[in-house]
Amino acid sequence: MKLIQLDINNQVYEIPVNPRDLLVDVIRKKVGLTGTKKGCGQGDCGACTVLINGVPVLSCITLAISCLGKKISTIEGMADEQGNLHPIQQAFVDHGAVQCGFCTPGMILSAKALLDQNPLPSVLEIKRSISGNICRCTGYKKIVEAISAAAKEISTGEVK
Ligand code: FES
Ligand code: FES
Repeated sequence: MKLIQLDINNQVYEIPVNPRDLLVDVIRKKVGLTGTKKGCGQGDCGACTVLINGVPVLSCITLAISCLGKKISTIEGMADEQGNLHPIQQAFVDHGAVQCGFCTPGMILSAKALLDQNPLPSVLEIKRSISGNICRCTGYKKIVEAISAAAKEISTGEVK
């Protein structure tokens, strides 16, 4: 067991980890941030998506120790300090893009990575950005609509 420091949502945590500990398990069990979900545990479903230095990464196939010195973002870091939801989160609520919610944190982080790079993406670009995130409930349509609406709101201040 080795004590390492991980920067998660701009907060530094000192955590004892084994070299083989997976990032998803460290985030959920050792840090207690359970918003990141573990579905398949083998890199297929996207439920465990977090951002590392702004890039979506599957935390179930990422070693925690490989994240030393990097910035990890999870769903818990999306709302502002007053607890106001990020526009992408709010759009998911407003557009009925959440059903069981298991895929939602990963979807939202994939969407955030897209909008940070490409503020007004096409529908195709949105679909591509969430192509690694599986949703068994919604049929994806409302998720795409929510991301599209969030993009417009963030870019223009216009709420749809
Ligand atoms: S839990 Fe990581 S991809 Fe499914
Ligand atoms: S809302 Fe249930 S898996 Fe997407």
